[in-house]
Amino acid sequence: MVIIEKMTTQHLADVINLGVVEEQRKFVGTIDEILKSANAQVRPHVIFAEDQIVGFFLIDITYSKNYDFAKQSNSIGLRSFFISKEYQGGGYAKQAILILPNYLSEAYPNHTEIFLTVNCQNSIAKALYLKGGFKDTNSLYYGGSAGPQHIMVRAISSSIETGS
Ligand SMILES: CC(C)(COP(=O)(O)OP(=O)(O)OC[C@H]1O[C@@H](n2cnc3c(N)ncnc32)[C@H](O)[C@@H]1OP(=O)(O)O)[C@@H](O)C(=O)NCCC(=O)NCCS
Repeated sequence: MVIIEKMTTQHLADVINLGVVEEQRKFVGTIDEILKSANAQVRPHVIFAEDQIVGFFLIDITYSKNYDFAKQSNSIGLRSFFISKEYQGGGYAKQAILILPNYLSEAYPNHTEIFLTVNCQNSIAKALYLKGGFKDTNSLYYGGSAGPQHIMVRAISSSIETGS
């Protein structure tokens, strides 16, 4: 079973050991780099499976202010989503993405949409987000350091679309 929680200082010792393989670092960076961008508005979260922290992501509540494509004042952003290398391929990313809308509707009830960008070379992640109910806006974001990114968006609501 997969659970999402806000990261606390108690999680830090486990979180600092999380990481992706070298070829994936262009998509999310290292956990040290990611944690430096976390603050009161860019909130770190942990993904638990079988009582272990297996993954991580940021929820950016300033997203709509910083990205023109997310101008809706009540949208938030998903950033730095990853499953640590030793836990990849176990279905945890898919489970986390499927429970994300319910989690967000409780944790961020004033927000109705969530945006993300995914590198055009990252077809596994893009397919994952589509299965989790995100839609490709068919627009590209060129501000990333590793090439163009698809802009995707999903409604936040308490009903989970399981996809197929
Ligand atoms: C993308 C990522 C989160 C997927 O995590 P994961 O735990 O391996 O994913 P899951 O096991 O839940 O699998 C999800 C789907 O992706 C597919 N998949 C996962 N790894 C794959 C691989 N190496 N090759 C092909 N398909 C793969 C699975 O088959 C599954 O598809 P299905 O639902 O049709 O069976 C993980 O690879 C990762 O952290 N990558 C680096 C960071 C990254 O790119 N993050 C996205 C930033 S936008």
